[in-house]
Amino acid sequence: MSIQGGFATQCVHAGRNPDQFGALVTPIYQTSTFAYPSTEAAAEDFQDLSTGFAYSRLTNPSLDVFEKKLAELEHGARGVAFASGMGAIAGTLISLVSAGDHIICSSTLYSGTHHLIHSTLARFGVQFTAVETSDLAAVEAAVQPNTKLIYFETPANPTMELSDIAGIVAIAKKHGLMTVSDNTFASPYLTNPLDFGVDVVVHSCTKYICGHGDVIAGVAVAKELEVANQIRMEGLMHVGAVMAPNTAFLLERGLKTLGIRMEQHCRNALKVASWLEKQPWVASVRYPYLPSDPGYELAKSQMRGGSGVVTFDVAAGLEGGKALMNHLKVCTIAVSLGDCETLVEHPASMTHTMVALEERLAEGITDGLIRMSVGLEDADDLIADLDQASKYI
Ligand SMILES: Cc1ncc(COP(=O)(O)O)c(C=O)c1O
Repeated sequence: MSIQGGFATQCVHAGRNPDQFGALVTPIYQTSTFAYPSTEAAAEDFQDLSTGFAYSRLTNPSLDVFEKKLAELEHGARGVAFASGMGAIAGTLISLVSAGDHIICSSTLYSGTHHLIHSTLARFGVQFTAVETSDLAAVEAAVQPNTKLIYFETPANPTMELSDIAGIVAIAKKHGLMTVSDNTFASPYLTNPLDFGVDVVVHSCTKYICGHGDVIAGVAVAKELEVANQIRMEGLMHVGAVMAPNTAFLLERGLKTLGIRMEQHCRNALKVASWLEKQPWVASVRYPYLPSDPGYELAKSQMRGGSGVVTFDVAAGLEGGKALMNHLKVCTIAVSLGDCETLVEHPASMTHTMVALEERLAEGITDGLIRMSVGLEDADDLIADLDQASKYI
């Protein structure tokens, strides 16, 4: 059901659809198919597969609640649940572009998306130009007669570089292009790209939406119902990366605390980032809500907090970074982000190994860069952990 109210109220109530027993929590509808009372009733549903429940590769009552909740939180018409963030990104792009079309994308992207656009879609004849989407002049200069859409992440993984959402939408509208934005790092708590005119928002729900590190999941939320239906019918149903009902259950549970989790992630991350920038062993820190960050003014205009991710460069480079990471006790070495636990990863040797060295360096992903997903622990304990580990650099 649709719920009026603030973000926290919506996190708890939006999308809920009490079943015939009045279950407070959405049950896990562990079913692949749905029984019809007659062929006529079945035929009616099959006229339009984007509504109703026909087969769980399209949707399912557990997924439906999650999709509607996400659509409300992102101010969109409808969400489409996928088995992973990459499922959502691939499903969205293959629904919206065809061979011969051209995509403008951020040069700094999550490495899986980078590979999808640079290699996989390219093999099927989809052209692309990668530009710094933080540079609006570069975005506009990349527009070609066959450009179909602009794809960007803000904040970008792993550099925390911001793109000006309103500026990109203005260019897109001027040239009749669609826009797709990956809002994983911000979550709907911190920014709603659809409010700026973006057409589709995608998420790796594996991260903040879930918040507990126990699922792989994704979603696409479209501003227009027609676009959401196109993604469901084209990029989900005929490809098959559908979310499992149990995953939707865990996501709905995680979403109920999204607001309070994001508050703590942001508070902790700002404290850690402010401490890091004063340390002599740190060469640079990127965190959008640090007043010294180049994206600070933009962050204030399009985000309601800085996110939970901080990236920093260890002055002693690769070996220094490794020594630091290997001596952390509270922080855990792991990819992914948005969990309760603080996770640290080294993009050059972990998440971004698929990106060619020259490209990686040009994107600012240096050998010494460390990405820290600041968790929900006490910030002082995280700072003490970094401090003791820094003695080994
Ligand atoms: C910004 C961003 N988008 C998409 C993905 C892919 O999500 P998933 O791992 O859920 O497929 C990730 C994964 O780290 C990511 O960081």
